Amino acid sequence: MTIDVLSPVRSGLRWGLGHGLPGLAIRQGARGGDLVSRLVVDPDLRQDPFPAYERIRADAAARGSVFIDNGRLMGTVDHAAATEILRSDDFGVAFELPGRLQRAFAWSLDPWAAGPVDPPSMLAVDPPVHGRYRRLVTRWFTAREVRGLEERITETATRLLDGLAAQGSRVDLVEEYAALLPVAIIAEILGVPAHQHAQLLAWGNGAAITLDPALTWRQYRGAQQHVRALHRWLDDHLAAKRRSPGDDLLSALATLEDDDLTDLELRGIGLLVLGAGFETTVNLIGNAVAQVQSRPEVRAAVRDDPGLWGGVVEETLRFDSPVQLTFRSALTDTVVAGSPVRRGTGVLTYLGGANRDPAVFADPARFDPTRDDAGRHLAFSSGVHYCLGASLARAEATIGLRLLHERFPDLRLDGEPTRRPTRVLRGYERMPVALR
Ligand code: HEM
Repeated sequence: MTIDVLSPVRSGLRWGLGHGLPGLAIRQGARGGDLVSRLVVDPDLRQDPFPAYERIRADAAARGSVFIDNGRLMGTVDHAAATEILRSDDFGVAFELPGRLQRAFAWSLDPWAAGPVDPPSMLAVDPPVHGRYRRLVTRWFTAREVRGLEERITETATRLLDGLAAQGSRVDLVEEYAALLPVAIIAEILGVPAHQHAQLLAWGNGAAITLDPALTWRQYRGAQQHVRALHRWLDDHLAAKRRSPGDDLLSALATLEDDDLTDLELRGIGLLVLGAGFETTVNLIGNAVAQVQSRPEVRAAVRDDPGLWGGVVEETLRFDSPVQLTFRSALTDTVVAGSPVRRGTGVLTYLGGANRDPAVFADPARFDPTRDDAGRHLAFSSGVHYCLGASLARAEATIGLRLLHERFPDLRLDGEPTRRPTRVLRGYERMPVALR
């Protein structure tokens, strides 16, 4: 790795164009009451965005549209419109700036600090490049492959629960369980030794906020240090796998022969799969525990019928989605569900709001693990970027929750859980529980 003397300049420019300037407009919009802006910066709406989603639904309907529009960004909570956008070739994932600013923005990308929403991350590139990256990793995450992992998930969850049982009765469920299960499994798929899990978790937690818009310079700088550490670690790790490959995903990437992927592209694929593999499922497990704990009738139902945990997971994905929104940009003048969108317009699809669309889900604000159409949710997105790890996340959460409650049938919250400070990812940072 060479030292880039321009790195601080790139960082400053990238923050200014990607977060600082848009952040000014967003803060101003929020002061004026604009909902799209308030959803980014208002801590109350971060805590509970659902009333705001219903206002968006009503305001859009009052305009005879599926969108609200603040002149710079459009937003939708309409399930049909969100699905159409996510599946449409008329929309791409790149954040576009006008003319020269776009060139400056592209130049500002530091290859040792490219995060999950910077190219060449799969999340930040459109077809055909996107398909080229994705094809290299899909085989590790097919439903069949995940079925083969169920035993490992069970063993890992059991080992973690043994650890919990050996502790006192009061623990932080996120730190001691929900976070550890996904990182152990994705690390195994990638071929990362167990002694590195804690370090990866710390870097991943620090980097997770890079998915959010309008970061302050302090937040951005802090998160960048974690992203840089992950790049350096992955660079070393890929080199080690090249020297001595195993039967794992990173070895397969490190020893690709027919492909002319750059080192940055390889790190981009590895970093996204690694980070997405544990920074999301932790939230699904935590959100599910919170929903179940606050409903005695659901607790009783899963105790009587552990087969219902699959329904709890699906309903949690719908009702309290771990990824609340995604961004798309119109590549051409187009029309979505009858509403026009101009080329270059940024559109926010609020997955968490679309998952409560009454046109699709009856009584959507009710948490009901027996609902038979919960699986129509958009929690894993749709279209070409549909979550690669959806089957894995479902398996980890279903097995992890069932075993947790079987081992500790009297588990209960022991204090107020605290939400993570992130906006795109929705989950708990801490969840104090009493196990017995
Ligand atoms: C509850 C857990 C999870 C949720 C809610 C979730 C959600 C999502 C969403 C919403 C997207 C698409 C974003 C967009 O359209 O812009 C996505 C993409 C992705 N997810 Fe997940 N995810 C979860 C778990 C996982 C796991 C366990 C993995 C492990 C491999 C993973 C890997 C990925 C990857 C690689 C992408 C990018 C796919 C692409 O761009 O083609 N995710 N995920």
